Formats: sequence, structure tokens, C-alpha cells
Amino acid sequence: MSLSLSPHKDVETLQLVNSLRRANGEPVSGEAIGQELGVSRAAVWKRIEGLRSLGYQIESVPRRGYTLISEPETPTPEAVGGFLSSVVLDDGLFGPEKIIFYQKTDSTNVQAGILARQGAKDGTVVVADHQTEGKGRLGRVWESPIGGNLYFSLILRPEIEPRYAAQLTLLTGLALAEAISGVGADGVEIKWPNDLLLGGRKVAGILTEMAVEESQIQFVVIGVGVNVNVELTGFTEEIGNIAATLSGHLKKQIKRSAFLADFLSRFLGWYRWYLAEGFAPIRSIWLKQSRIKGRRVQVNLLDESFTGWAVDLDVDGFLLVKREDTGVEARVLAGDVFLIR
Ligand code: BTN
Repeated sequence: MSLSLSPHKDVETLQLVNSLRRANGEPVSGEAIGQELGVSRAAVWKRIEGLRSLGYQIESVPRRGYTLISEPETPTPEAVGGFLSSVVLDDGLFGPEKIIFYQKTDSTNVQAGILARQGAKDGTVVVADHQTEGKGRLGRVWESPIGGNLYFSLILRPEIEPRYAAQLTLLTGLALAEAISGVGADGVEIKWPNDLLLGGRKVAGILTEMAVEESQIQFVVIGVGVNVNVELTGFTEEIGNIAATLSGHLKKQIKRSAFLADFLSRFLGWYRWYLAEGFAPIRSIWLKQSRIKGRRVQVNLLDESFTGWAVDLDVDGFLLVKREDTGVEARVLAGDVFLIR
């Protein structure tokens, strides 16, 4: 497996980007930047060169300084960090220094698991531009073409019982639905337990995994894949036929770093609320959003399929379905559930 870690995890780089951004296309002198960062003009120049190597287009204007012309659209720690709100930065769960970016990796969930076992902090976010072995639910593959989509995993260390971990998937779905609506995509649907749909096609998925020791959660990894800018032709035919992408839906490119930062901010809100109040209020909102209650559904489990009526979401976050064949209420722990329209 080949791993390439971004050489620019440096938080100071972020300060430099931010001071160029604040100038709104006007040049900023090397001296002013140097004063702000507390470094020499030569050091500023070196950092500008570093930024250029990351794909930031920066013009040197003689005797006036540096102008930011354009930014690369890659969800690096600096890029995502630049969009994190002050609420997120003040909270401290997430932050640019806790974002780890890979140009290419096997699976951010796998890497997050390794890092978590090595002691990575609560709130570490592992992001990749490309996954060679992206994982979906139920042993499926998550197609992860290079350079346009989002693949990331959150490492969390909540003090909750392992049986409640599924609740985190539902909460993540709510945050993701908000972030998708936030870029202007109307009509996003949440499909139990982990799918986000646009126009009935899958635009994002969530894979929650955890490590448990002596009935205690050591860590949870919440992996999120979002089809952002990669065109449907960039997927295999099988996936291209059932997937949606944000750019395809909105007819414009979406800035991945801004999307990820917005997601983290929305997730943080839900997560803090969940830790304070438990699952009950979130359960009601999820039920309302998903509009599944009372609907006729098709349930595909690993070993059997049945139809029935979605009765409720139980307190752990599992779906209760009244089977049409037996009349018995089934608690669906895993599997696929489709609304029968
Ligand atoms: C699903 O819908 O089946 C879940 C898909 C989850 C995909 C994401 S992409 C980032 C993270 N790393 C993985 O290998 N999988 C998750």
C-alpha cells in the first residue's frame, strides 16, 4: 500500500493563507505578513513558495507584495482550516491541527483505525483525495476516484455504550443532509441507516466502525463518502447508474474544503447536543426528516428479504418494521431498507 502524507500540515501556513485571503485580491507586503507571523521576509518568501507548490497561485507584485490569485481545490488541513468557523475553532474538538490529509490511501476508515489505536486525539479527521480500497457498508466497495469527491473519517472517543454507536450514524446523516442542503441541493433524503439521496440516487454514505474493549468504546470511526465533483462517467457503470453527484445536481463545482468545514461545524452542533441530551430529541428529528414512519418498505437482510411497514425507530436507532408475512415486528439491525413508492 502506498501512502503519501501531505508535507504541509503546518498550521502557520494557514495563517499565511488567511492573511492573503483577507486582502481580497489586493497585494500584501512581505513585511506586513512577516510582522503578522513573527518571521523574516525571507521566511515569508519561503512559505509563499511552499504554498505555490501546493497549487496556490500567488502573484509577486514588485514593491507591493503578494496577491492570492487562486487556490487549489483540495481539502488539505490548511484549506479546510481556513473555512472552519470560530465556533468550531473555539470548541476545540475539530481543528486544522487535527486534520490529516492523504493524497492517496487505501481507506480513510482503515487509516483512522490505525491512528486511533496509536492514540490519535478525539476529533482527528482523516481525509483523502483518493482511496484505493474504499469500504462501504456490508462489505461493499466505496468507489473513490481521484480528485473531486470527499472521503474522510472522524475519530471520536465518546463515553457511550457500544450499543448506542448506531445512533452516531443517524446523527451524522442529519449533519450531512444539512451540509448538502447548505450548498443549494434541494430535496435531499435520508435513507436508513446511512444513505443520503438526491433525486432517489445515492450522493453520500456513512460507515461507522468502532473498537470495543471490556464493553467500553475505545474509539469510533465515522467514515463519510460524498460524491462531489467527479462526473458519473468517473465511476463504474454499475455505480454511475445509481449515484448522484453534487456538481451534477447543481450544475456547478463545489469547493470540497468549504463543504467539509461546513459539515464539521454542523456535525459538531448535533454531536454536542447528543452528548448533552442523549438520542431522544435527535430521534424525533431524524424520524421527521426521513419520512419513513408509516411507509411500506422492502427490507433486504443478508439471509432473507421481506416487505412490511416501518413502525418506528427504537431508542438505540434501529428500525422497527412490522412484517407483512408474519405480522411480527422485526428490529432491523443491518441490511438495506427501501421505501416502496
Ligand atoms: C456506504 O454507503 O456503504 C458507506 C460508504 C462510506 C464510504 C466512506 S469514504 C471515507 C470512508 N473510508 C472508507 O473506506 N469508507 C468511508
